[in-house]
Amino acid sequence: MCGIVGFVGRMEAAPILLEGLKRLEYRGYDSAGIAIEQDGKIEIVKTKGRICCLDDMTDGGKKTPGTLGVGHTRWATHGEPSDVNSHPHRSMSGKIAVVHNGIIENYMELREYLRKKGFVFVSDTDTEVVAHLVDYYYKGDLLEAMVKAVNRLEGSYALGVVCADYPDRFAAVRKASPLIVGLSEEGNFIASDVTALISYTKRVVYLEDDEIVLVGREGIQAFNMNKEEIDKPVSEVTWNIDAAEKGGYEHFMLKEIMEQPAAIRETIRPRLKEGQVVLDDIQLTAADLQNFNRIVITACGSAYHAGVVGKYVLEELTRIPVEVDLASEFRYRQPIIDEHTLVVIISQSGETADTLAALKEAKRLGARTLSIVNVVGSAIAKESDDVLYTWAGPEIAVATTKAYSTQLTVLYLFALYAAGLLGTRPAAEISRLVQALEALPDQIEALLPACKPEMQRLAAIFYGCENLFFIGRNLDYAAALEGSLKLKEISYIHSEAYAAGELKHGTISLIDEGRLVIALCCQDRLFDKMRSNIREVKARGAVVMALATAQNKAIAESADQAVLVPETDPLFMASLEVVPLQLFAYYVASANGCDIDKPRNLAKSVTVE
Ligand code: G6P
Repeated sequence: MCGIVGFVGRMEAAPILLEGLKRLEYRGYDSAGIAIEQDGKIEIVKTKGRICCLDDMTDGGKKTPGTLGVGHTRWATHGEPSDVNSHPHRSMSGKIAVVHNGIIENYMELREYLRKKGFVFVSDTDTEVVAHLVDYYYKGDLLEAMVKAVNRLEGSYALGVVCADYPDRFAAVRKASPLIVGLSEEGNFIASDVTALISYTKRVVYLEDDEIVLVGREGIQAFNMNKEEIDKPVSEVTWNIDAAEKGGYEHFMLKEIMEQPAAIRETIRPRLKEGQVVLDDIQLTAADLQNFNRIVITACGSAYHAGVVGKYVLEELTRIPVEVDLASEFRYRQPIIDEHTLVVIISQSGETADTLAALKEAKRLGARTLSIVNVVGSAIAKESDDVLYTWAGPEIAVATTKAYSTQLTVLYLFALYAAGLLGTRPAAEISRLVQALEALPDQIEALLPACKPEMQRLAAIFYGCENLFFIGRNLDYAAALEGSLKLKEISYIHSEAYAAGELKHGTISLIDEGRLVIALCCQDRLFDKMRSNIREVKARGAVVMALATAQNKAIAESADQAVLVPETDPLFMASLEVVPLQLFAYYVASANGCDIDKPRNLAKSVTVE
């Protein structure tokens, strides 16, 4: 969702802001704008629509000279997408301009308060109150005004604040919404994520809640809410600009599908030592694990689907009962958890509003929390007791692929680690599974070249299908959930994932002549059951595309189209079978001319409820 970028330094600000905003486009937005300070005045250019419109309006930034400014991409929440609702928002006096990510929950009350003081509002947004509020408290000291304004705000925010009296510095602050500071010889930056500034610097400062920074041309100063200056450590981003570029691929999604072997390798590499899973990154001991009588996994979207895989794997290996819940449900259902519960939170971005709220609820109820996160320093990573990073690198396509795959990998690693500590599985079995896990990246690497043309061929046959079904049992069902979501997200074709055994309890009435059913038959012990399900749907006219392991070639006799995937331990099969499903979704969307990397209405990170 919304993106922020800010710069002050020795270069023109507008072209840097425009480039940064283009790099943030993937987060999803419907309007954009910039505010540039020059000669004690703030010029704002903003518009509904794409960054290219902003680029045209400012002639690539040339029409808005100045070396200090902030920019924003907005995904409408309060007020429709429009020029006037776009950020930056200006205070009535024109002295203050603000960009904001998040939601000011008490904005109605603040609006009323400021209205009584004579402030006139021009937009429908919650953000405009921040511009007026900072202006209201501004008596010549921007830091003082920021502290007083922030003290009045409830909700989540990342704010970039420009003041016309400050030609060398602007202010920024965050709470429960990501914002980082970037440092370089040419000047200093803020951004809602690293991709916006990676082409300028890899040196970043991660801000904590309610730390206010004054970002200056020559350096930054950070303060707590008592206006005491604080030291902030500087971190180095470990990935390069190529990671945030398409590198010859038509879409980020395809690039990220192809990056999966490397991403999974990177996830596993630091955690395997002499054939053992070593999770140095977490504090959980054998005694802690013994203390848990339940594990609850909570997440949204594909991360939730990774959690469904996690349930099967964790239960089988650790024998601890596992429950998986959507974060948006978990947070409001008064979950029964206590200090004997381990709550596992899964999130690529580490900033999904519902997932973050679920984490906070779990902590409030006394659970121990472990998060599986991709973005370093994100809110979820910071709030959790322990974090296992997925090390997938930046994921730009809205539809997740490599982040999902690395989430599965971390879940496998954690399950093996816990099983080892708890002694719930013989050491020899764990060693065998570790070897299988290590082989996964090579297997996916070998699968991809053949799978790509094969799925392109099948997409050319089925791209016009409507209302199709994905069916599977056990871990195949978990993979079906993700395959179905991938297709829906990017091709806009409706599909449903069903536990194959459940079909006959209603859904089979939807099977008619020519209906496409994608049957996942990769769990060996359930292969015959799946063949029966295929027979049932075919008898009612369905066309079946089936996935099975290479040793079950016989699937070709039962299905209209058969796709063979390499074999691993059944516990890890989802990692292999999801690859053809991702490619199928990709090529179907491509055949339908869809905007694959930026599907309609979707945002990469969903920072609102
Ligand atoms: C959005 C994305 C999905 C993602 C979900 C959860 O809906 O489009 O791809 O799975 O959010 O995001 P998270 O960052 O928490 O994994």
